[in-house]
Amino acid sequence: MIEFDQVTKQFPDGTKAVNNINFRVKEGEFFVLIGPSGCGKTTTLKMINRLIDASEGTIKINDENILSKNLHKLRWEIGYVLQQIALFPHMTIAENIAIVPELKKWSKSDTNARIDELLEMVGLHPGTYRDRLPSELSGGQQQRIGVVRALAGNPDILLMDEPFSALDPLSRDQLQQDVGDLQKQIKKTIVFVTHDINEALLLADRIAIMQEGSIVQVDTPENILDHPANDFVRSFIGNKTNPWKETVEKVMSETDAPGAPVIPHTATLTKAVDQLKASEKDVLRVLNRNEAVGSISYKQIVHYLSDFEASVKEEVQK
Ligand SMILES: Nc1ncnc2c1ncn2[C@@H]1O[C@H](COP(=O)(O)OP(=O)(O)O)[C@@H](O)[C@H]1O
Ligand SMILES: [Mg+2]
Repeated sequence: MIEFDQVTKQFPDGTKAVNNINFRVKEGEFFVLIGPSGCGKTTTLKMINRLIDASEGTIKINDENILSKNLHKLRWEIGYVLQQIALFPHMTIAENIAIVPELKKWSKSDTNARIDELLEMVGLHPGTYRDRLPSELSGGQQQRIGVVRALAGNPDILLMDEPFSALDPLSRDQLQQDVGDLQKQIKKTIVFVTHDINEALLLADRIAIMQEGSIVQVDTPENILDHPANDFVRSFIGNKTNPWKETVEKVMSETDAPGAPVIPHTATLTKAVDQLKASEKDVLRVLNRNEAVGSISYKQIVHYLSDFEASVKEEVQK
């Protein structure tokens, strides 16, 4: 549904930020752009909603060149979430969320219903939060409102540029999980920029790895770990054993989760995440033969992966 065909961006000062890239994002896909700072991720993202125009090549959305679409309509159909929370400080939470619905001339009652629905979706009680100012919310809550505001006009596409990188680890875990859940519920097409490989591996259906304006590999998390295209990808993902091959049994807690979808204790974390994505739940019940031996959740997997990452870093420093 989003298609980049031989797209290049050269800035007036001569910097070639993006060099002849090609990729396609499928409808409903969670597509992650990843790479080191300065490799062209933000430029690529901004070309989708025309905050930046490509110098060469074509970008199509649903087979239509974005240059022939009405610019305002294009922006309304695309939600955009930035690293720096950009809520309007003098407007209430409800007013902040209502911006695009009002531009789209939704009725007051539709807009109000949408605000409540979205606040509930990210676990913020509308009665409590609707009339607060952004300054009366924590950083994590403000960022959650940023995500919700981007969804308010019911866009088909959501662009997210390092949306969690300014957050403390706890809010970050929570929001990663929220966004994973949201994707399951609403099935938007999401293009998500990060430089955090664990975040990419957790959330992505497919990952595009960028280096100096080029895309060096586009693949599923599993294939990237198992078949890195070159040494750059290998070093980027870390020369480590694949933590996704770890068994559920090693990562689970011993708390039972009666009624949750089941997974065998010998299944891999990849399998567990696939199953979590496919189900409507965020926890699975772990079975050894027919006996419940524990449960595994998104949160435990995230913690396991970040501990794993930390231990790799420690080893490198020794
Ligand atoms: N407006 C601009 N003018 C000139 N160079 C720019 C401009 N914006 C970004 N760049 C350069 O383009 C390259 C890619 O930037 P960017 O897309 O922001 O990278 P990333 O998001 O991956 O960190 C960098 O070298 C950056 O300095
Ligand atoms: Mg950037």
